[in-house]
Amino acid sequence: MEFTHSVLSFSSGKGGVGKTNIVANTAIALAELGKRPLIFDADLGLANIDVLLGLAPAYNIKHVLSGEKGIKDIVVTGPKDIRILPASSGVPELLDLTETQKRLLLDEMEVISGEVDTLLIDTSAGISDTVLYFNMASQYRIIVVTPEPTSITDAYALIKVLYSRHKVDEFCILVNMSSSEREAKKVYNQLSNVADRFLGSLRMKYLGFIPKDQYLQKAVLQQRAVLDMYPDAPSSQAFKRLAKGIVALGQEVRVDGNIKFFWRDFLNVV
Ligand SMILES: Nc1ncnc2c1ncn2[C@@H]1O[C@H](COP(=O)(O)OP(=O)(O)OP(=O)(O)O)[C@@H](O)[C@H]1O
Ligand SMILES: [Mg+2]
Repeated sequence: MEFTHSVLSFSSGKGGVGKTNIVANTAIALAELGKRPLIFDADLGLANIDVLLGLAPAYNIKHVLSGEKGIKDIVVTGPKDIRILPASSGVPELLDLTETQKRLLLDEMEVISGEVDTLLIDTSAGISDTVLYFNMASQYRIIVVTPEPTSITDAYALIKVLYSRHKVDEFCILVNMSSSEREAKKVYNQLSNVADRFLGSLRMKYLGFIPKDQYLQKAVLQQRAVLDMYPDAPSSQAFKRLAKGIVALGQEVRVDGNIKFFWRDFLNVV
């Protein structure tokens, strides 16, 4: 099946595990493969995608909801022409929209839907309602985890809530800051063993790993994406592999929605 529209959410139980870096670099790697990604910044925290990429958006989703701006006025462009929809501070409002605002948002999303084919959602850490809703409305849920025990237990807590309360039973596990593939697989096995034992029939796919990489940290300090600044760094190569894996996901699994449906579903559940 053709990979036309995919919606991926990136979440973690614990904060600071690398979601924002992963979303930014994966989007760049997808653009290099000829995809047209749009990042939706749904993270309420301060260290957001625009800061990471040294961008300064003048407007955000609040201006769309108030009718002051259209979606095209608020979208900013990053490396390799990836697009970013600055939303962060307006995200809580998304849970509390009037019918008129929902209609407006759907119409605005329609405006841009022809120009993008992959939506990547960078969520806040933890298990807030917004995080849960974005996970529920996405086609692919990527749970980012590091080898730290607290990261693993918090990832499990997130998966457990999504499964037991919201019947979400498919997850992709991405291990960040790993020293080796072996360590990453161990983390994945730990998580999937616990899930098998306590949660039953849950499908958990190993999506690979991103090595702990000092070049990524150097790039962060320069407010650049590592893939843009150091294309040959170990983490950059891993992001390229990850992007290929994501494209393959879209080909292998049923595609039961697209970006338009995503917004309709999201606004329906909230
Ligand atoms: N693969 C990696 N190698 C080395 N350092 C990394 C790697 N990934 C992330 N980091 C470090 O972790 C920091 C936090 O990353 P990032 O902001 O992407 O995490 P986050 O999960 O989005 O955090 P938050 O939960 O606050 O949104 C980075 O600034 C960087 O220093
Ligand atoms: Mg972040």
